[in-house]
Amino acid sequence: MGAILAAAGSAVGLGNIWRFPYETGNSGGAAFILIYIACILFFGLPVMIAEFTIGRHSRANTARAYQILAPGTQWRWVGRWGVLTGFCILGYYTVVAGWCLEYVIDSATNAFANKVSADYVEMFNSFVSNPWKPAVLMTLFMLATHFIITKGVQKGIERSAKILMPVLFILLLFLAVCSITLPGASAGIDFLLKPDFSKVNADVFLSALGQTFYSLSLGMGCLCTYASYFRADTKLPNTALSIASIDSLVAILAGFIIFPAAFAVGINPDAGPSLIFITLPNVFTQAFGDIPFIATALSLMFYILLSLAALTSTISMHEVVTLYLHEEFNLTRKKAAGIVTIVCGFIGVLCALSFGPLKEYTFFGKNLFDMFDFVTAKLMLPIGGFFIAIFTGWFLDHKVLRSELSPCRTLHPYIYRAIIIILRYVAPAGIAMVFLNELGLLS
Ligand code: PHE
Repeated sequence: MGAILAAAGSAVGLGNIWRFPYETGNSGGAAFILIYIACILFFGLPVMIAEFTIGRHSRANTARAYQILAPGTQWRWVGRWGVLTGFCILGYYTVVAGWCLEYVIDSATNAFANKVSADYVEMFNSFVSNPWKPAVLMTLFMLATHFIITKGVQKGIERSAKILMPVLFILLLFLAVCSITLPGASAGIDFLLKPDFSKVNADVFLSALGQTFYSLSLGMGCLCTYASYFRADTKLPNTALSIASIDSLVAILAGFIIFPAAFAVGINPDAGPSLIFITLPNVFTQAFGDIPFIATALSLMFYILLSLAALTSTISMHEVVTLYLHEEFNLTRKKAAGIVTIVCGFIGVLCALSFGPLKEYTFFGKNLFDMFDFVTAKLMLPIGGFFIAIFTGWFLDHKVLRSELSPCRTLHPYIYRAIIIILRYVAPAGIAMVFLNELGLLS
């Protein structure tokens, strides 16, 4: 139960509440969401089942897992690729987690009171371009992750996830109702529910694919590592279905908070990574402006819960890299964790300052932060997922697959066959097509 909760804690995080709305906003709304749901069904769920299978059968960290299941082959590079991906995501993810900490402080000091929409945009911009604040808060968050990883208080995290996630969910539901009932919110609801396929292009498919892997923590061996702690009788397909459903529900709820409010106060849905930070304070102040105490309490609770949800995700990334260094290079756990914290912290500082002092340094028109976001979510994770699907569909002994997917033979044979067909053909071909399409080779 602990491992399953930890896996759900890894999946639910900033990917759902911060990244999903901004990708949806950039990609035109409802049509993106439909493509995203299709990606979850055809790529996300099967790859999650594949990672669970690899992890539970090998009972090892993601890099070692491939050496156990396919000794002497190059498959171990899939594991190493995952470790590298986790490392890169951790570097910039903690920056956004640091932004959440700033908003916890702002909520506690009542900084949102008596302001209008344009002020929130200004507040965010002046904060992210500050020469030191974002870097300090990012460092604090990285140290909190380090502390938990080295002190081994994972049990506490699992236990708090049990309480945290339901509370976060109820709060999101409540905020969605507040947002939907704001005057002028209906355009936002239309944006979420009325698909306009005329805006769908290759980028939209790549965004939906990347978001699927990102949000479900897939393609980098994170869930594989957690699954190595699953019990032998845990039903992998059912567990995957539960985690994917919870994760998608949280993301869609976040959409129903952000877009009605954004349209109600005149914020462009394609504002990018700043979207939730400039939109949400409006929900708190507009819905509860007359009762400032409630506005403060709600926003404080929201940002604390969001920071904790981010923490259960950063722990999972940190753990993958730490475990790899610890087990493969004979380092003590403490030393391994220290290396990860310092190197990722360094990347984090650079990314944190890439909206301020380092904003001149751009690559293909993107600052360092956007570059890390793009490369990890849209390239590294789907590439990892592609190879995980091929490994499980084509190279893993089918007896292993059958015994892991259905240890008590309770899985319907049609479902088993469907999973195999998707892992062998549908997922690899689909992911490859999204990439080829993006490169303009399919049109
Ligand atoms: N799934 C996490 C989120 O939604 C992010 C994450 C990605 C965690 C990859 C681990 C690995 O916030």
